[in-house]
Amino acid sequence: MKKIIIFDTTLRDGEQSPGASLDTDSKIKIARQLTKLGVNIIEAGFPIASKGDFNAVYKVASLVKGVSICGLARSMKSDIEVCAEAVKPARYPRIHVFLATSKIHMQYKLKKAESEILKLAAWAVKYARNFCDDVEFSPEDASRSDRDFLCKVIESVIKAGAKTVNIPDTVGYAIPVEFGELIKTIKIKVPNIDKAIISVHCHNDLGLGVSNSLSAIENGAEQVECTINGIGERAGNASLEEIVMALETRKDIFGVATSINKKELYKTSRLVSKLTGIVVQPNKAIVGQNAFSHEAGIHQDGVLKKRSTYEIIKPQDVGFGGTRLVLGKHSGRHAFNDRLIKLGFELDENELSKAFERFKTLSDKKKEIFDEDLLSIVEDEIVSIPETYRLEDLNIVSGNKVIPKATIGLKKDTRVLRKSSSGDGPVDACYKAIDAITGLKCKLLDYSLKSITGGKDALGEVSVRIKSNKDEVFGRGTSTDIIEASAKAYINAVNKLIFNHLRKAKPESEKLKL
Ligand code: KIV
Ligand code: ZN
Repeated sequence: MKKIIIFDTTLRDGEQSPGASLDTDSKIKIARQLTKLGVNIIEAGFPIASKGDFNAVYKVASLVKGVSICGLARSMKSDIEVCAEAVKPARYPRIHVFLATSKIHMQYKLKKAESEILKLAAWAVKYARNFCDDVEFSPEDASRSDRDFLCKVIESVIKAGAKTVNIPDTVGYAIPVEFGELIKTIKIKVPNIDKAIISVHCHNDLGLGVSNSLSAIENGAEQVECTINGIGERAGNASLEEIVMALETRKDIFGVATSINKKELYKTSRLVSKLTGIVVQPNKAIVGQNAFSHEAGIHQDGVLKKRSTYEIIKPQDVGFGGTRLVLGKHSGRHAFNDRLIKLGFELDENELSKAFERFKTLSDKKKEIFDEDLLSIVEDEIVSIPETYRLEDLNIVSGNKVIPKATIGLKKDTRVLRKSSSGDGPVDACYKAIDAITGLKCKLLDYSLKSITGGKDALGEVSVRIKSNKDEVFGRGTSTDIIEASAKAYINAVNKLIFNHLRKAKPESEKLKL
């Protein structure tokens, strides 16, 4: 069966999601997981954008093997040189150069005529080929470009040495039939198209990113660019898990395969969500919490009689464990580690000790521990950042006839700092008391609470997004007590603000916007 190349841009376009920012360590963790998932190419960043981006791409290229590592560059000498340097350590490096070809971009953004764009695109590819055999070219805003001009550009970049031409629907404007037609036209009108791979890169502004990508595949595209959980600029990019599972589930229509190890999809989705702070909507296809839940009585009845009455994908096929009861209070370290290995986590001794300690604390409060609880514990260990402040104790007075009051003790080094505050509710009182201790003025931008498993003793997971000066971070906390989970999430976010502040003190130049 023909194979579709999966080009993952979670670490580049995905990271351009509002509020998402990944440090080098997080990028390496995600890149390693993407390799396990079986993607063919990882676009690790935009190296010229900042020293931090350069380092991240360089580190990913140095450490993550068995997959092609790509960096993005504008059609400029300095961008291409810096990108080449960043991807150099990779076994299979790729440089991805782009230049806009639509009238609106050429006239207002680039202030260049068609003839200049044509020359510049070919020059950029040729220049990049001096450093790297594998060069991809993207005519940005291709779907809104004049088709004859677009075809001329594609022909000339292939002549200049581009091995892949990527057709972006940059602003998510295309409609599936139209986008499929565009790919068909390129195949017919570009005389040397057989010398390059046709790729597509669809944004989701009209909610059509996946549909457009699939339509392109039906019309001959051989590579798709996508992100985990569909994160990305504005409304995001086409979602990797949706494209892969559509191709798999409807092989009868598409007749193509991918190299993706589908059982790793759910785990990858959770890791990306955890590290970017972007919560996956519950009804998200394939990886949402409700993707395999059957609520209506008729559906439940049907599923009990035969699962395929209402289920087109088996949850286990994408690594979604459901709520499997696994461990309890008396389970030992060995059983705990055994289950983690089955879930795909191999922790070192130190990580295992910390995770086991958390498991024991949890099992004192919660009778039954499910896979989701374990995932939550382990992911917290994986994404740990230095804990400048740690929750020591928490005392809440609340009710419908009293003014809520919180007294909080936070451990900093060896000292415990304690403050009290009242607030509009217990969570507000907590956050004010924490601000009083840290001295930081934080604005709460977003707060959400969900339960990790069912049952009255379920773990509650709180996610917050806070802002201080211009720095915006997210934090998460879990506990069987939702006020404690709220406090932990806020403290986690505050620790990130402090961590970012310290990191910025070691210069990492301003981010350049695309
Ligand atoms: O959306 C877009 O056009 C891009 C290009 C840089 C490929 O992300
Ligand atoms: Zn994009």
